[in-house]
Amino acid sequence: MPRSETARGRCVTLHMVSSLDGFIAKKNNSVSWLDTPGSVYEAGVSISQQEAADFLKTIDCYVLGSRTYEHALELGWPYGDTPTVVVTGRKWPSARTSIEFYSGDLKTLVDVKLAPRYGNIWLVGGAMLCQRFLELGLVDEIKLTVAPVLLGEGLRLFGGSLAAGRWNLKNVVAYKNGFVELSYSAATK
Ligand SMILES: NC(=O)c1ccc[n+]([C@@H]2O[C@H](COP(=O)([O-])OP(=O)(O)OC[C@H]3O[C@@H](n4cnc5c(N)ncnc54)[C@H](OP(=O)(O)O)[C@@H]3O)[C@@H](O)[C@H]2O)c1
Repeated sequence: MPRSETARGRCVTLHMVSSLDGFIAKKNNSVSWLDTPGSVYEAGVSISQQEAADFLKTIDCYVLGSRTYEHALELGWPYGDTPTVVVTGRKWPSARTSIEFYSGDLKTLVDVKLAPRYGNIWLVGGAMLCQRFLELGLVDEIKLTVAPVLLGEGLRLFGGSLAAGRWNLKNVVAYKNGFVELSYSAATK
């Protein structure tokens, strides 16, 4: 049974935006490549700010690594008041009441700490933490948004050696701005 259909109903979705050549960040951490306008893809869809906001309300909790956390703070905190868990071995000052810091076993984090409280859990980076979640079989769905740009160098989306495995394509959405969102669920175990 796919993990997303477990009795508790919780689903861990790994969401990342990648360049065409498989990078999620530039060496200098600039995110300008995410906004680079390309040619309009006429057959694509676009969503309104209201639709985007309504969708974000369906996310119960975010999980991120400490380097992504640092960058998110610099960018102006895109996760609002949604509960957020930052995985880190370091001590951090409390920046917002919605943020908790976690150090320890990741399976315990998901199964014991998060699953009883949250259904729709979004793992939003970075590469290191996503890699670890995948290695541990803690990801139920992958939502990969591919940006219409080659970066040439940077931080690889899936850098290390992951166990081979099939994923089921569930949905494809092409946007007018040339971004393509690919949704996969974990194959039956
Ligand atoms: N394009 C996208 O969609 C996207 C999404 C997210 C992030 N990013 C980018 O990716 C970069 C950050 O990614 P990253 O791979 O360098 O770092 P990361 O995964 O965000 O954070 C790594 C840190 O998380 C903590 N950590 C990871 N696994 C752990 C574990 N098993 N136990 C305890 N702590 C653990 C450690 O923190 P401590 O060192 O504090 O112990 C580790 O140094 C940034 O440039 C960010 O902007 C891009």
